[in-house]
Amino acid sequence: MPVHSSRLVTIERFILDEEKTHPGASGELTNLLYDVALVAKIIAREVNRAGLADILGETGDVNATGDDVKLLDEYADKAVFRVMDHTGRLCVMGSEEHEGIIKIPERFPKGKYVLLFDPLDGSSNIDSNASIGTIFSIHRKVTYGSDGTVEDCLQPGSRQVAAGYVLYGPSTILVYTTGHGVHGFTLDPSLGEFLLSHPNIKTPDEGKIYSCNEQNRADWEPAWREYTDWLKEKDAATRRPRSTRYIGSLVGDFHRNLLYGGVFFYPGSVKRPQGKLRLLYEVSPLSMICEQAGGRSVDGLGHRILDITPSELHQRVPLLIGSKKDVDEAEAFLAARRAVHAGKS
Ligand code: AHG
Ligand code: MN
Ligand code: MN
Repeated sequence: MPVHSSRLVTIERFILDEEKTHPGASGELTNLLYDVALVAKIIAREVNRAGLADILGETGDVNATGDDVKLLDEYADKAVFRVMDHTGRLCVMGSEEHEGIIKIPERFPKGKYVLLFDPLDGSSNIDSNASIGTIFSIHRKVTYGSDGTVEDCLQPGSRQVAAGYVLYGPSTILVYTTGHGVHGFTLDPSLGEFLLSHPNIKTPDEGKIYSCNEQNRADWEPAWREYTDWLKEKDAATRRPRSTRYIGSLVGDFHRNLLYGGVFFYPGSVKRPQGKLRLLYEVSPLSMICEQAGGRSVDGLGHRILDITPSELHQRVPLLIGSKKDVDEAEAFLAARRAVHAGKS
């Protein structure tokens, strides 16, 4: 990794320097990441104007997985398409807002990469001016022919060549990995540039925070209920009680825990056995970031998220993600409680 000392480093400079450390790189991924940074600026501009631009509110439609579509969801989704459709770097796209794959229009050249994205994450927070985000995941094309297919999209997270997110908070920050560490860039609005602000992010090995929506607790498996009860008990030796922090905006919740340490979970429930979060558009990319930062990401049922091969575009998956020790601890706790419950039945 290049050393940047205290110089100002734009995201373009950084990505280019990173590419130079990989002889033989064609530069296509580099350009694709620039495009992501451009989309991030376009969406950030709109998000910052949201209260002014009469853009708040809902379109009246529901998306592929049944959520209300906010106008900003739609704006962000279109912004990604408009930047990405004609560059010749992609063969296909997939978005949380579309039921099927998004083809590259006939008239444009096709490239070797696949882009999957959640254009606007945490959109229930838009009207309250709380943090929202964009999540992206990049795979290499694996099928023959120039057009990308569903098969190109249904790859396990371990095959991602890059992943990241943009958080539209008090400032806009873009965090990404290409498998060589995690780097964060903060948008300087006066320059219109993302500047390196968080080089080589490492998440703490353990934390004091747990993040979940406890409203679902009555429908959780007993072991998960017992785990959250345990987190609230007092025991200094095991850093308890822990603090609850939950925005309901995955990018915001994830980014905070990445920097401060802790654990986030969205388990399955009676109503939603696979939880709520989408494997391809949300969970896989954040899992790659988390592991690259030294954390762990699993489904709480014995599987590493990045090893799961998706069978459908909008597949949901239970999630337990965060600091390594906290995830290990949660897994061990759940296993022990499950064994007790199994013994009783
Ligand atoms: P999206 O806005 O893209 O549909 O995602 C919302 C997701 C995610 O951001 C968040 O972690 C989760 O929904 C919150 O769900 P609950 O409201 O059930 O807690
Ligand atoms: Mn989302
Ligand atoms: Mn979304």
